[in-house]
Amino acid sequence: MRILVTGGAGFIGSNFIYYILETYPSYEVTCLDALTYAGNLETLESALTNPRFKFVHGDITDRRAVFALFEGTPWDVVVNFAAESHVDRSIENPSVFLQTNVMGTQVLLDACRAYKVGRFHQVSTDEVYGDLPLDRPDLLFTEDTPIHTSSPYSASKAAADLLVQAYHRTYKLPVTISRCSNNYGPYHFPEKLIPLMITRAISDGSLPVYGKGENVRDWLYVRDHCVAIDRIIHDGRIGEVYNVGGHNERTNLEVVRAILRELDKPESLINFVTDRPGHDLRYAIDPSKITKELGWAPTTSFDRGIRETTKWYLENQRWWQRVMGGEYRQFSSRLYGERG
Ligand code: NAD
Ligand code: TYD
Repeated sequence: MRILVTGGAGFIGSNFIYYILETYPSYEVTCLDALTYAGNLETLESALTNPRFKFVHGDITDRRAVFALFEGTPWDVVVNFAAESHVDRSIENPSVFLQTNVMGTQVLLDACRAYKVGRFHQVSTDEVYGDLPLDRPDLLFTEDTPIHTSSPYSASKAAADLLVQAYHRTYKLPVTISRCSNNYGPYHFPEKLIPLMITRAISDGSLPVYGKGENVRDWLYVRDHCVAIDRIIHDGRIGEVYNVGGHNERTNLEVVRAILRELDKPESLINFVTDRPGHDLRYAIDPSKITKELGWAPTTSFDRGIRETTKWYLENQRWWQRVMGGEYRQFSSRLYGERG
């Protein structure tokens, strides 16, 4: 099997590449990545020495480069992780989100169609469903929940999902879509909640919690997400959407406190800052479809996942200090300068 992974130098894509190379000793994986601020070749350092792995530096919006990559190789599966993925950045500058997440997806769909690729899998997000109220724990996102987006990020991901479904209906392109809840684990860029709080707490920095810290996210350890995508690309039904999540809801404050306990740091590091505009209240996934159809269930508890993730950031300080380069520092001081 030959798999093209786009966005594989980022958080989930890199974990997926390592997972596939380890799990399937005969599979060949190529990563296409533009190496934006969120993509780092160091993340793929161990894969680069594997003869079954190849890295191609390129942008999914670059039609000529993408088609050239398809011209040479008959891909069995294309898994699209490439995206601008941070809600706060999308609030500051939506344009690049539309370029990459929508137009880039369209280029990949066109290439898959032209070269008759066996499967196009779109890695989407539960954020396309908007949010749920805090006082209705009985409500969960199902695959039938209407698309109802809040941020430019989620709107761009929803637009991409609609395009993917349109290519299936109109051109019979063999597609699948997964909509996963918030991931955490190794190689997570330290602008997202969990790695930001871990790296700041390690350095005894202040921890910027938006609003009152009451918003709820449904956290999934990244490897469990990789297993879910594996199941879908092998056995998922063409044209279907699969929600992925592990019934693991936590308020942001609970998450931050768990990290502080793990690192034995004081709660006085917490700093409540101005809320994110349009801040989604609660995400919660009903994963019963993927569980029933594909036998998927998460295997890493939140306690274990947080322990392992914290340990990883303690042991890989060189990685996160290097990826938090000049561009990130400027963004961070703009964002937290305004909010603080
Ligand atoms: P990330 O920001 O860590 O990585 C994105 C990667 O895409 C980077 O390597 C970047 O260089 C690359 N990229 C960006 N623009 C590109 C372009 N134009 N051409 C080629 N490569 C480009 O993101 P992530 O957290 O790993 O998320 C991966 C996917 O999973 C995204 O599509 C995201 O919407 C989705 N997702 C993320 C989460 C989460 O919790 N992180 C949850 C559900 C779904
Ligand atoms: P984030 O990791 O950006 O993921 P998403 O917004 O896509 O769910 O944020 C997770 C939650 O943490 C969200 O409710 C916003 C909150 N948050 C903070 O309180 N402080 C921060 O510095 C960041 C980045 C996020």
